[in-house]
Amino acid sequence: MQESVLLNVGFFTKSCVVLVCLCGVHLIVALFFYLTESPTKLTNYRKIQLDSDIFASKTHRTAVIQYDNGTEADVNKLMYSKGSVIKDAVEEEPAVLESCPETSTLLVGPMRVEFSEPVNLDMVRKDNPQLVKGGRYKPNDCVALQKVAIIIPFRNRDEHLKYWFHYLHPILQRQQLDYGIYVIQQDGEGTFNRAKLLNVGYVEALKEYDYDCFVFSDVDIIPMDDRNTYKCSSQPRHLSVSMDKFGFRLPYKQYFGGVSAMSKEQFQKINGFPNNYWGWGGEDDDIFNRLVFRGMKISRPSGDIGKCRMIRHSRDKKNEPNPQRL
Ligand code: UDP
Ligand code: BGC
Ligand code: MN
Repeated sequence: MQESVLLNVGFFTKSCVVLVCLCGVHLIVALFFYLTESPTKLTNYRKIQLDSDIFASKTHRTAVIQYDNGTEADVNKLMYSKGSVIKDAVEEEPAVLESCPETSTLLVGPMRVEFSEPVNLDMVRKDNPQLVKGGRYKPNDCVALQKVAIIIPFRNRDEHLKYWFHYLHPILQRQQLDYGIYVIQQDGEGTFNRAKLLNVGYVEALKEYDYDCFVFSDVDIIPMDDRNTYKCSSQPRHLSVSMDKFGFRLPYKQYFGGVSAMSKEQFQKINGFPNNYWGWGGEDDDIFNRLVFRGMKISRPSGDIGKCRMIRHSRDKKNEPNPQRL
Protein backbone atom coordinates (compact mmCIF):
# COMPACT_ATOMS: atom_id res chain seq x y z
CA MET A 1 0.00 0.00 0.00
CA GLN A 2 2.79 2.42 1.13
CA GLU A 3 4.85 1.28 -1.88
CA SER A 4 2.03 2.05 -4.36
CA VAL A 5 1.56 5.60 -2.89
CA LEU A 6 5.28 6.27 -3.38
CA LEU A 7 5.07 4.98 -6.96
CA ASN A 8 2.12 7.34 -7.72
CA VAL A 9 3.99 10.40 -6.33
CA GLY A 10 7.04 9.61 -8.53
CA PHE A 11 4.85 9.32 -11.64
CA PHE A 12 3.12 12.67 -10.85
CA THR A 13 6.47 14.52 -10.44
CA LYS A 14 7.79 13.14 -13.75
CA SER A 15 4.60 14.18 -15.56
CA CYS A 16 4.95 17.72 -14.20
CA VAL A 17 8.57 17.99 -15.41
CA VAL A 18 7.60 16.80 -18.92
CA LEU A 19 4.72 19.32 -19.02
CA VAL A 20 6.96 22.22 -17.98
CA CYS A 21 9.53 21.22 -20.64
CA LEU A 22 6.80 21.13 -23.33
CA CYS A 23 5.59 24.60 -22.30
CA GLY A 24 9.15 25.93 -22.54
CA VAL A 25 9.62 24.51 -26.05
CA HIS A 26 6.27 25.97 -27.12
CA LEU A 27 7.24 29.38 -25.77
CA ILE A 28 10.59 29.34 -27.61
CA VAL A 29 8.93 28.29 -30.90
CA ALA A 30 6.24 30.98 -30.54
CA LEU A 31 8.87 33.63 -29.76
CA PHE A 32 10.96 32.57 -32.78
CA PHE A 33 8.02 32.92 -35.21
CA TYR A 34 6.93 36.20 -33.68
CA LEU A 35 10.35 37.74 -34.16
CA THR A 36 11.02 36.45 -37.66
CA GLU A 37 7.63 36.47 -39.38
CA SER A 38 5.87 39.59 -38.13
CA PRO A 39 5.20 41.84 -41.16
CA THR A 40 5.74 44.98 -39.13
CA LYS A 41 9.12 43.92 -37.84
CA LEU A 42 11.02 47.11 -38.46
CA THR A 43 14.48 45.83 -39.16
CA ASN A 44 12.90 43.96 -42.03
CA TYR A 45 12.55 46.79 -44.54
CA ARG A 46 15.28 47.49 -47.02
CA LYS A 47 13.99 50.10 -49.45
CA ILE A 48 12.05 53.28 -49.10
CA GLN A 49 10.98 55.20 -52.16
CA LEU A 50 9.94 58.80 -52.04
CA ASP A 51 8.19 60.83 -54.64
CA SER A 52 6.58 64.22 -54.71
CA ASP A 53 3.84 65.85 -56.71
CA ILE A 54 5.37 69.20 -57.48
CA PHE A 55 2.41 71.21 -58.59
CA ALA A 56 -0.01 70.40 -55.81
CA SER A 57 -0.28 73.35 -53.45
CA LYS A 58 0.43 70.98 -50.60
CA THR A 59 3.05 68.48 -51.57
CA HIS A 60 1.88 64.93 -51.49
CA ARG A 61 4.45 62.40 -50.50
CA THR A 62 4.22 58.70 -51.03
CA ALA A 63 6.60 56.28 -49.47
CA VAL A 64 6.69 52.57 -50.01
CA ILE A 65 8.27 50.21 -47.57
CA GLN A 66 9.40 47.02 -49.16
CA TYR A 67 9.90 44.07 -46.88
CA ASP A 68 12.52 41.41 -47.41
CA ASN A 69 9.84 38.86 -48.19
CA GLY A 70 8.86 40.97 -51.23
CA THR A 71 5.63 42.46 -49.90
CA GLU A 72 5.16 46.22 -50.03
CA ALA A 73 3.24 48.59 -47.85
CA ASP A 74 2.26 52.21 -48.42
CA VAL A 75 3.73 54.13 -45.54
CA ASN A 76 0.76 56.49 -45.40
CA LYS A 77 -1.68 53.61 -44.98
CA LEU A 78 0.53 51.96 -42.39
CA MET A 79 0.64 55.17 -40.45
CA TYR A 80 -3.10 54.90 -39.94
CA SER A 81 -3.32 51.19 -39.33
CA LYS A 82 -0.15 50.69 -37.36
CA GLY A 83 0.68 54.26 -36.41
CA SER A 84 3.02 53.79 -33.51
CA VAL A 85 4.97 51.06 -35.23
CA ILE A 86 5.95 53.26 -38.18
CA LYS A 87 6.59 56.26 -35.98
CA ASP A 88 9.06 54.16 -34.00
CA ALA A 89 10.68 53.08 -37.25
CA VAL A 90 11.21 56.66 -38.37
CA GLU A 91 12.72 57.59 -35.04
CA GLU A 92 14.99 54.57 -34.99
CA GLU A 93 16.26 54.99 -38.54
CA PRO A 94 15.60 58.34 -40.22
CA ALA A 95 15.10 56.75 -43.65
CA VAL A 96 11.94 58.66 -44.63
CA LEU A 97 12.90 62.23 -45.58
CA GLU A 98 10.46 65.09 -45.31
CA SER A 99 9.68 67.23 -48.35
CA CYS A 100 11.74 70.42 -48.51
CA PRO A 101 9.76 73.52 -47.47
CA GLU A 102 7.84 75.54 -50.08
CA THR A 103 10.29 78.40 -49.45
CA SER A 104 13.83 77.43 -48.55
CA THR A 105 15.09 78.83 -45.27
CA LEU A 106 18.63 78.98 -46.69
CA LEU A 107 17.93 81.94 -48.99
CA VAL A 108 19.80 85.20 -48.44
CA GLY A 109 17.84 87.60 -50.71
CA PRO A 110 19.66 90.33 -52.69
CA MET A 111 23.24 89.45 -53.68
CA ARG A 112 26.19 91.31 -55.14
CA VAL A 113 26.94 90.13 -58.66
CA GLU A 114 29.98 91.42 -60.52
CA PHE A 115 32.32 90.23 -63.22
CA SER A 116 35.58 92.05 -62.43
CA GLU A 117 37.45 89.17 -60.73
CA PRO A 118 38.17 86.13 -62.91
CA VAL A 119 36.82 82.76 -61.77
CA ASN A 120 37.85 79.24 -62.74
CA LEU A 121 36.49 75.71 -62.59
CA ASP A 122 38.75 74.68 -59.70
CA MET A 123 37.13 77.39 -57.59
CA VAL A 124 33.71 76.14 -58.61
CA ARG A 125 34.62 72.56 -57.59
CA LYS A 126 36.05 73.71 -54.26
CA ASP A 127 33.07 75.92 -53.43
CA ASN A 128 30.56 73.17 -54.25
CA PRO A 129 31.81 69.94 -52.66
CA GLN A 130 28.36 68.34 -52.80
CA LEU A 131 28.10 68.58 -56.58
CA VAL A 132 28.01 65.25 -58.36
CA LYS A 133 29.70 64.63 -61.71
CA GLY A 134 27.57 65.95 -64.55
CA GLY A 135 26.57 69.09 -62.65
CA ARG A 136 23.99 67.29 -60.55
CA TYR A 137 22.87 68.00 -57.00
CA LYS A 138 20.02 67.21 -54.65
CA PRO A 139 19.56 68.11 -51.00
CA ASN A 140 20.45 65.33 -48.58
CA ASP A 141 18.21 66.39 -45.70
CA CYS A 142 14.87 66.75 -47.51
CA VAL A 143 13.16 65.71 -50.71
CA ALA A 144 13.31 68.52 -53.29
CA LEU A 145 9.92 69.80 -54.46
CA GLN A 146 10.97 69.71 -58.13
CA LYS A 147 13.44 67.89 -60.35
CA VAL A 148 14.84 70.68 -62.52
CA ALA A 149 16.93 70.44 -65.71
CA ILE A 150 18.68 73.71 -66.51
CA ILE A 151 19.46 74.04 -70.20
CA ILE A 152 22.02 76.50 -71.56
CA PRO A 153 22.44 77.17 -75.31
CA PHE A 154 26.16 77.55 -75.92
CA ARG A 155 29.03 78.24 -78.27
CA ASN A 156 32.35 80.05 -77.62
CA ARG A 157 31.28 81.66 -74.34
CA ASP A 158 33.62 79.83 -71.95
CA GLU A 159 34.29 82.91 -69.77
CA HIS A 160 30.57 83.50 -69.31
CA LEU A 161 29.96 79.84 -68.50
CA LYS A 162 32.51 79.94 -65.67
CA TYR A 163 30.76 82.94 -64.08
CA TRP A 164 27.42 81.19 -64.54
CA PHE A 165 28.68 78.08 -62.69
CA HIS A 166 30.36 80.23 -60.03
CA TYR A 167 27.19 82.15 -59.18
CA LEU A 168 24.42 79.68 -59.96
CA HIS A 169 25.54 76.46 -58.26
CA PRO A 170 25.46 77.92 -54.72
CA ILE A 171 22.15 79.67 -55.45
CA LEU A 172 20.48 76.52 -56.80
CA GLN A 173 21.67 74.56 -53.77
CA ARG A 174 20.27 77.16 -51.38
CA GLN A 175 17.00 76.87 -53.30
CA GLN A 176 17.01 73.16 -52.35
CA LEU A 177 16.42 71.90 -55.87
CA ASP A 178 17.14 68.47 -57.29
CA TYR A 179 18.88 69.80 -60.40
CA GLY A 180 21.14 69.02 -63.33
CA ILE A 181 22.89 71.43 -65.72
CA TYR A 182 22.89 70.75 -69.48
CA VAL A 183 25.17 72.91 -71.61
CA ILE A 184 24.11 72.31 -75.20
CA GLN A 185 26.92 73.32 -77.51
CA GLN A 186 26.32 74.01 -81.19
CA ASP A 187 28.94 72.22 -83.27
CA GLY A 188 30.74 73.86 -86.22
CA GLU A 189 30.75 77.44 -87.43
CA GLY A 190 27.25 77.64 -88.89
CA THR A 191 24.61 80.20 -88.00
CA PHE A 192 23.57 79.92 -84.35
CA ASN A 193 20.13 78.53 -83.46
CA ARG A 194 19.23 79.12 -79.82
CA ALA A 195 15.73 77.59 -79.76
CA LYS A 196 16.81 74.41 -81.52
CA LEU A 197 19.58 73.92 -78.94
CA LEU A 198 16.99 74.30 -76.18
CA ASN A 199 14.86 71.58 -77.80
CA VAL A 200 17.91 69.31 -77.90
CA GLY A 201 18.54 70.02 -74.22
CA TYR A 202 14.98 69.06 -73.29
CA VAL A 203 15.26 65.70 -75.09
CA GLU A 204 18.75 64.90 -73.79
CA ALA A 205 17.96 65.80 -70.17
CA LEU A 206 14.93 63.50 -70.16
CA LYS A 207 17.10 60.61 -71.34
CA GLU A 208 19.06 60.96 -68.12
CA TYR A 209 16.50 61.61 -65.37
CA ASP A 210 12.80 62.03 -64.84
CA TYR A 211 12.85 65.83 -64.75
CA ASP A 212 9.55 67.59 -64.25
CA CYS A 213 10.72 71.17 -64.78
CA PHE A 214 12.97 72.78 -67.40
CA VAL A 215 14.71 76.13 -66.97
CA PHE A 216 16.08 77.61 -70.21
CA SER A 217 18.85 80.09 -69.45
CA ASP A 218 21.19 82.22 -71.53
CA VAL A 219 24.78 81.63 -70.44
CA ASP A 220 25.37 85.29 -69.61
CA ILE A 221 22.48 86.01 -67.20
CA ILE A 222 22.94 85.89 -63.42
CA PRO A 223 20.09 86.49 -60.94
CA MET A 224 20.74 89.12 -58.25
CA ASP A 225 18.32 87.68 -55.69
CA ASP A 226 18.14 84.01 -54.73
CA ARG A 227 14.41 84.30 -53.91
CA ASN A 228 13.97 84.12 -57.69
CA THR A 229 13.70 80.33 -57.55
CA TYR A 230 14.68 78.42 -60.68
CA LYS A 231 11.59 76.22 -60.65
CA CYS A 232 8.27 75.84 -62.46
CA SER A 233 4.80 76.93 -61.52
CA SER A 234 1.27 76.27 -62.70
CA GLN A 235 1.89 78.69 -65.63
CA PRO A 236 5.05 79.14 -67.72
CA ARG A 237 7.38 81.39 -65.78
CA HIS A 238 9.62 84.18 -67.00
CA LEU A 239 12.49 84.68 -64.57
CA SER A 240 14.77 87.39 -66.04
CA VAL A 241 12.24 90.17 -65.62
CA SER A 242 14.39 93.12 -64.65
CA MET A 243 17.73 93.02 -66.37
CA ASP A 244 20.42 95.66 -65.97
CA LYS A 245 20.78 96.04 -69.74
CA PHE A 246 17.12 97.06 -70.01
CA GLY A 247 17.36 99.48 -67.06
CA PHE A 248 15.97 96.86 -64.62
CA ARG A 249 12.58 96.61 -66.30
CA LEU A 250 10.83 94.55 -68.96
CA PRO A 251 11.69 95.87 -72.44
CA TYR A 252 8.11 95.03 -73.48
CA LYS A 253 5.19 93.18 -71.94
CA GLN A 254 5.49 90.09 -74.15
CA TYR A 255 9.25 89.66 -73.54
CA PHE A 256 10.03 86.01 -72.75
CA GLY A 257 13.81 85.91 -73.47
CA GLY A 258 16.78 85.38 -71.19
CA VAL A 259 15.69 82.89 -68.53
CA SER A 260 12.34 81.05 -68.49
CA ALA A 261 10.89 77.94 -66.81
CA MET A 262 8.38 75.43 -68.12
CA SER A 263 7.05 72.16 -66.81
CA LYS A 264 7.15 69.07 -69.00
CA GLU A 265 3.39 69.43 -69.62
CA GLN A 266 3.65 73.10 -70.57
CA PHE A 267 6.54 72.39 -72.97
CA GLN A 268 4.68 69.51 -74.60
CA LYS A 269 1.50 71.54 -74.90
CA ILE A 270 3.28 73.96 -77.28
CA ASN A 271 5.14 71.16 -79.08
CA GLY A 272 8.46 72.55 -77.85
CA PHE A 273 10.25 75.51 -79.43
CA PRO A 274 10.58 76.53 -83.10
CA ASN A 275 13.54 74.96 -84.92
CA ASN A 276 13.65 77.46 -87.80
CA TYR A 277 15.03 80.66 -86.23
CA TRP A 278 18.61 80.92 -87.49
CA GLY A 279 20.62 83.84 -86.08
CA TRP A 280 19.70 86.39 -83.42
CA GLY A 281 16.16 87.31 -82.39
CA GLY A 282 12.52 86.39 -82.64
CA GLU A 283 12.55 82.85 -81.27
CA ASP A 284 11.57 83.96 -77.76
CA ASP A 285 8.65 85.99 -79.17
CA ASP A 286 7.55 82.90 -81.11
CA ILE A 287 7.64 80.87 -77.87
CA PHE A 288 5.56 83.56 -76.14
CA ASN A 289 2.96 83.34 -78.96
CA ARG A 290 2.85 79.55 -78.73
CA LEU A 291 2.09 79.75 -75.01
CA VAL A 292 -0.64 82.34 -75.48
CA PHE A 293 -2.19 80.40 -78.39
CA ARG A 294 -2.46 77.40 -76.06
CA GLY A 295 -4.30 79.42 -73.44
CA MET A 296 -1.44 79.89 -70.97
CA LYS A 297 -0.42 83.03 -69.13
CA ILE A 298 3.09 84.09 -68.19
CA SER A 299 3.88 84.17 -64.49
CA ARG A 300 6.69 86.39 -63.22
CA PRO A 301 8.42 87.33 -59.95
CA SER A 302 8.22 90.95 -58.83
CA GLY A 303 10.67 93.37 -60.45
CA ASP A 304 12.59 93.49 -57.20
CA ILE A 305 13.14 89.75 -56.84
CA GLY A 306 13.57 89.33 -60.60
CA LYS A 307 16.61 91.62 -60.88
CA CYS A 308 19.52 90.17 -62.85
CA ARG A 309 22.71 91.09 -64.65
CA MET A 310 23.80 90.18 -68.17
CA ILE A 311 27.55 89.99 -68.75
CA ARG A 312 28.30 92.65 -71.36
CA HIS A 313 29.34 91.31 -74.74
CA SER A 314 29.41 92.18 -78.40
CA ARG A 315 27.31 90.35 -80.98
CA ASP A 316 28.77 86.89 -81.71
CA LYS A 317 29.93 85.90 -85.17
CA LYS A 318 27.35 83.84 -87.01
CA ASN A 319 24.57 85.12 -84.78
CA GLU A 320 23.67 88.27 -86.68
CA PRO A 321 20.09 89.51 -86.43
CA ASN A 322 17.89 87.20 -88.44
CA PRO A 323 16.21 89.31 -91.16
CA GLN A 324 13.26 86.88 -91.17
CA ARG A 325 12.68 87.01 -87.41
CA LEU A 326 9.59 89.18 -87.68
N1 UDP B 1 24.95 82.03 -77.51
C1 UDP B 1 26.19 81.42 -77.46
N2 UDP B 1 27.07 81.61 -78.46
C2 UDP B 1 26.82 82.41 -79.52
C3 UDP B 1 25.57 83.04 -79.56
C4 UDP B 1 24.68 82.85 -78.55
O1 UDP B 1 26.49 80.70 -76.50
O2 UDP B 1 27.68 82.53 -80.40
C5 UDP B 1 23.94 81.73 -76.48
C6 UDP B 1 24.31 82.24 -75.11
O3 UDP B 1 23.73 81.41 -74.14
C7 UDP B 1 23.65 83.59 -75.12
C8 UDP B 1 22.34 83.29 -75.79
O4 UDP B 1 22.69 82.35 -76.80
O5 UDP B 1 23.52 84.14 -73.84
C9 UDP B 1 21.63 84.51 -76.41
O6 UDP B 1 22.49 85.23 -77.28
P1 UDP B 1 22.92 86.74 -76.93
O7 UDP B 1 23.55 86.76 -75.59
O8 UDP B 1 23.78 87.24 -78.04
O9 UDP B 1 21.54 87.50 -76.94
P2 UDP B 1 21.19 88.88 -76.19
O10 UDP B 1 22.38 89.35 -75.44
O11 UDP B 1 20.79 89.82 -77.26
O12 UDP B 1 20.05 88.55 -75.32
C1 BGC C 1 13.75 90.19 -80.27
C2 BGC C 1 13.91 89.22 -79.14
C3 BGC C 1 14.84 89.81 -78.11
C4 BGC C 1 14.33 91.16 -77.68
C5 BGC C 1 15.19 91.82 -76.63
C6 BGC C 1 13.28 91.54 -79.75
O1 BGC C 1 13.21 92.47 -80.80
O2 BGC C 1 12.81 89.70 -81.20
O3 BGC C 1 14.40 88.01 -79.64
O4 BGC C 1 14.95 88.95 -77.02
O5 BGC C 1 14.20 92.00 -78.78
O6 BGC C 1 16.48 92.02 -77.07
MN1 MN D 1 23.51 88.15 -74.00
